[in-house]
Amino acid sequence: MRTTIESYMQRAGRLNLDGIEFDDFRDSPLAPEALRSLRYMHDVEHHTVCYLRDLLLTPAHRDPDITSFLSCWVFEEMWHGEAIGRVLEAHGEEAGAPRIAALRTKHRRKEALSTLSTVASAAFAGRAFTALHMTWGAINEWTTQAGYARLSEKAGHPTLRELLKRIMRQEGGHIDFYASEAARRLAESPRAQRLTRFALKRLWRPVGSGVMPQEEVGFLVGYLFDGDEGRRFTSRIDGRVDRLPGQADLHLLATAVSRLSRLEIAA
Ligand SMILES: [Fe+2]
Ligand SMILES: [Fe+2]
Repeated sequence: MRTTIESYMQRAGRLNLDGIEFDDFRDSPLAPEALRSLRYMHDVEHHTVCYLRDLLLTPAHRDPDITSFLSCWVFEEMWHGEAIGRVLEAHGEEAGAPRIAALRTKHRRKEALSTLSTVASAAFAGRAFTALHMTWGAINEWTTQAGYARLSEKAGHPTLRELLKRIMRQEGGHIDFYASEAARRLAESPRAQRLTRFALKRLWRPVGSGVMPQEEVGFLVGYLFDGDEGRRFTSRIDGRVDRLPGQADLHLLATAVSRLSRLEIAA
């Protein structure tokens, strides 16, 4: 584990924006669907710090390697939000603090409930909760990276492609840590395997589901992951979950895409 965390910490840092010409978007703007996706990604990247608050109330805060990782991770995610905010601003949209403050006010009550339930579950689950947290993190990072890859393909904008390539590289560092920790901790504990499987099956929803309105979650999932090409990405992620100890055949992504696409059609 030291190798994983040390190599991540060596590479971690603020997203490099050298050579990214945000003014390109003024001359050649993105399609409305791509912009709508970026609003979602901006909000969710900036929400990472609130998610971290909940995590630090769990037994995860006792492990210094995990807290070192989380310290760098939240910093990197914040700069992803800032970079996406500059794309929104180049389209004349509000981004950064005013947009985030409005979102947090709207979700204050929901947030209090999520914090309370995190604390209650962590107290009940003890150390097994950390295995669940690492597994949940791995799945969320896999789907985030896949979401950026799909958006890059669908938008077909060279400046966005370069920006997302750099963000995806950092998401890859997050994946390495979460996935290796998840595999190791699950392999060590049948109880952690059972708790994780139980929680994923009942509670897992695509990244941002607890923060963003349901119609935005439905739009994003449908836009990025419905259809043959999208399914290629989601089945690859379901295959990675299958290979984690005790987590075979959950089909989390396939189930979420089919449920949310149905909602989109009904809307
Ligand atoms: Fe990110
Ligand atoms: Fe990430």
